[in-house]
Amino acid sequence: MVEPAPSHGPRTVVSPAKTLFGVGVSEQVGDYAARHGETALLVASQEIYDIHGDRIVETLDAAGVETALYTDVRPDPTVENVRDAFAVWEAEGCDVVVTLGGGSSIDVGKSVGILANNAGDIRGFGVDKAGYGGVPNPTPPMIAVNTTAGTGSETTRTAVLSDESTSTKFIIVSENIVPTVAVEDPELTRSLPKSHTAFTGIDAFTHAIEAFTSVKSYSVTDGYARDAMERIVDALPRSWANGDDIEARTEMLIGQFQAGKAFGNSSVALVHGMARPLGAQLHIPHGLANGLILPYVVEFNHVAAQSKYAEVARMLGAADAGDSDRVAARRAGDAVKGLCEEISLTSYLDDFGEVPSREAYLDVVPEMTGDAFDSGSPDNNPRKPTREELEELFVTVYDDALAPDSPRRS
Ligand SMILES: [Fe+2]
Repeated sequence: MVEPAPSHGPRTVVSPAKTLFGVGVSEQVGDYAARHGETALLVASQEIYDIHGDRIVETLDAAGVETALYTDVRPDPTVENVRDAFAVWEAEGCDVVVTLGGGSSIDVGKSVGILANNAGDIRGFGVDKAGYGGVPNPTPPMIAVNTTAGTGSETTRTAVLSDESTSTKFIIVSENIVPTVAVEDPELTRSLPKSHTAFTGIDAFTHAIEAFTSVKSYSVTDGYARDAMERIVDALPRSWANGDDIEARTEMLIGQFQAGKAFGNSSVALVHGMARPLGAQLHIPHGLANGLILPYVVEFNHVAAQSKYAEVARMLGAADAGDSDRVAARRAGDAVKGLCEEISLTSYLDDFGEVPSREAYLDVVPEMTGDAFDSGSPDNNPRKPTREELEELFVTVYDDALAPDSPRRS
């Protein structure tokens, strides 16, 4: 097996046109919205709106921008969410989208933007139907006010939606849906509970490590990914232990932003391919699914991108410069497990989702394996699994991380 070769071929790096960073920057949302429109559609979940909504509506008000509200975004946002939000957009004559929340709100905002400037049903824009150039016209201006650290969706050309009619997720990918302005105010992430600090933080770490080792990785995305991992390894345990540590929260926001730029311009890979069906089966949050799977995929992959996994192991303190890449890379999987343990990741299985019996789980492994392959994500993996190997990985996840008496839960 060979290491993925860096390419110097032509590339397009996407990013929001502007990104605001720092404590208090969310107060500038109104000014930025006023540059782009007169009536904002504010997209949020009710929970997040209750915490931060007033602050955002006030800044829009102060800048003379009217606000229309859609506050019914679900954790795994649905096609219905998008249709309902778009109905508000049309009824209120909106001309700028403001999202408040993490990936779910941002992805609904992007999708409303697609419908505003493109004809058709939102399902038809999925990459499985329309490919990667299937959104012909850019969305209206969009301001993504981020409250998690995080999905990185405020930096990317991707939206993930659930199609409830088929109980599957689909992905929309287009350069035409990158937000215009990303707002990264650490103050807004203080409200994130410990559980979601863990989930969204390990999601960001997974974005960075997958982007770093993807066959689509190259010099620019490697830079983002390295920077992201270094920050997250240090700041995630601190922001998890003390949510009011604003310095750690700031580092996490920067780290997850860099991770978003990394995978948004490289790709995610096998972990995300497996996490979507696993998450759907167990009804667990996306980041938790990633954190459960990640160590085994690292273990599986390490021989195929040895120098990169060696770097990861060194960043995590599991190896040093004196260890060969071969030795260091072999320790990467356990090192990742250690990071998950530091934030008690598997303990959240008690409160989030349902773990089936081993027998019931084994019954759905072939289906999950098929879904993982269909997602296309395994194609970006440095080591391509066979069907058998992928099924085995799902079984390992159960035996080592899901079963109540498994090593990672006891
Ligand atoms: Fe993710």
